[in-house]
Amino acid sequence: MKKIVVTGANGQLGKCLRDVASNFPQFDNHFVDRAVLNIDDPGSVSEFFESNQFDICINTAAYTNVEKAESEQEAAFKTNAEGVKNLAKACSAQGTTLIHISTDYVFDGTKQTPYKEADAVNPINAYGASKLQGEEHIQDICEQFFILRTSWLYSQYGHNFLNSMLRFAAEGRDLTITTEQVGAPTNANDLAEAIYTMIESGKEDYGLYHFSNLGRATWYDFAEAIFKCSGQLESVKLAKTAHYSTFAKRPAFSILDTRKFSETFQFELKPWDQSLCDLIENHKK
Ligand SMILES: NC(=O)c1ccc[n+]([C@@H]2O[C@H](COP(=O)([O-])OP(=O)(O)OC[C@H]3O[C@@H](n4cnc5c(N)ncnc54)[C@H](OP(=O)(O)O)[C@@H]3O)[C@@H](O)[C@H]2O)c1
Repeated sequence: MKKIVVTGANGQLGKCLRDVASNFPQFDNHFVDRAVLNIDDPGSVSEFFESNQFDICINTAAYTNVEKAESEQEAAFKTNAEGVKNLAKACSAQGTTLIHISTDYVFDGTKQTPYKEADAVNPINAYGASKLQGEEHIQDICEQFFILRTSWLYSQYGHNFLNSMLRFAAEGRDLTITTEQVGAPTNANDLAEAIYTMIESGKEDYGLYHFSNLGRATWYDFAEAIFKCSGQLESVKLAKTAHYSTFAKRPAFSILDTRKFSETFQFELKPWDQSLCDLIENHKK
């Protein structure tokens, strides 16, 4: 039985992986949060992997606050670059396959067609730069790794755009949402399903992959779709803006070309708006 450990288990993707794992009883799944395994601490990371022989580590632990990362660069790099290096070293030493989640923010957004895995990276914010350094450490240290870059993650869990929009609407707030960036909202439940499907395939086609839901949207489109699916479009005060000022720059275009993932692992990706409505419907029930 393959033994799997999921780091950052209390984050939104960690929670989605826990839900999905129950559909894969052929694996021995372990979920560890920061209190059990702080990836920033090299000593505890190597000790943890020496005393537990895992076949696979799914790393969802990350510093994820894109805005704060601009003023807290040290903390962002400590986890997203050095913490990932600690994991890469421990996994490599124990022959553990590392599945790591990265981001569309490694790109600068100047391309007009979907980004492929081999396209040049050029992060334009501190979060993206820290995540890119993490990717580079894995590629330098590990032989058995999968890096999945994803975009605009949301789910029923935690702080994300979907939950913020629903909360703001419930509070009767006026919502002015930007049309500046184009990306693919991605349901973290779909990503969790994809990760387990990838493991189940047993394929050893290690390397870099792009994973997102299909189609493209601005943040305004995403908000509008949320309210359409939740039946609140008529009642909510929603407006668009071409400029929304933030500390962190964001790529204007960050659609990922996901064909390598879907073809390698025979995984059918869902359109982003369908997956969003499915999630909202399921949670209404
Ligand atoms: N959210 C997005 O839009 C998005 C987009 C593209 C890629 N990604 C990537 O997808 C992955 C999952 O993101 P998510 O949305 O699930 O993030 P999340 O909800 O913020 O979860 C991240 C988890 O990592 C934990 N963590 C932070 N530092 C840690 C450390 N040093 N040691 C152990 N655990 C630590 C956090 O614990 P605490 O709660 O204790 O801080 C949190 O539970 C991340 O790699 C992220 O970079 C996210």
